[in-house]
Amino acid sequence: MQTQTINGIKIAYERRGQGTPLVLIHGFPLDHGCWDALAPLLDGQADLIMPDLRGMGQSGFGAAGAPQGAYSVADMAADIAGLLDALKLDRVFVAAHSMGGYVAMAFARAYPQRLAGLGLVSTQALPDAPDRKAGRYATAGQVAEQGVVVVADAMAPKLTANVAQVPDIREMILRQPAAGVIGALKAMAERPDSTDLLAALKVPVAILCGQADALIPPDRSREMKTLIAQAVLTELPGVGHSPMLEAPAETAQTLGGLFS
Ligand code: MLT
Repeated sequence: MQTQTINGIKIAYERRGQGTPLVLIHGFPLDHGCWDALAPLLDGQADLIMPDLRGMGQSGFGAAGAPQGAYSVADMAADIAGLLDALKLDRVFVAAHSMGGYVAMAFARAYPQRLAGLGLVSTQALPDAPDRKAGRYATAGQVAEQGVVVVADAMAPKLTANVAQVPDIREMILRQPAAGVIGALKAMAERPDSTDLLAALKVPVAILCGQADALIPPDRSREMKTLIAQAVLTELPGVGHSPMLEAPAETAQTLGGLFS
């Protein structure tokens, strides 16, 4: 992986392929490794930039240490913009999974001129309902006391409908630092409603969801489609929350369709 210091934080990223610049933003509580099956299917046509969000994967460590406390999706979007500055990329396609989608929407809000097109994978425009928000803070407290294993046990089975993938996903979650998991939980809890933003988007948009998603119901994707006139919605039967892991070929085809 390569790194850049962005906003005082070491941001790690993998870059591969040639063609249209496409930033892939991972979800919670994962890192850029969630794109491993998808990347070889797109790198013939895309210059893939796959960061680890602050505090996740290999980002946020080094001399400055892991950023502590709450992050915001706007902070994470600013990290992406800073990374693009460092890579001298002005305008890019962005595709993002779940929490990554919240970050991508924050990016679209703050840097509309830099967004060429948007892929929204298993995500939603709505903010947390009060009970969900309270649950995030409760989970953050548990992680502080007991470690990331709490989240790994609870979430790994929900992240895929393919039970054979659960052990690998659990391992990926266990690699995440507690400070980063806590920071991301708080960022998700405090994220804004992005409904207005989606309705104003003028760029190509691809929405993708698994019909067997146990974390974010497919209705959230259908609602986003109704907000964005030009959006294309793809639903994958039998696929759960992580289409890039469960159905990489279909996911690559959908995201590649944004620019090819
Ligand atoms: C994710 O997969 O990124 C998260 O589960 C999304 C969420 O909890 O809202």
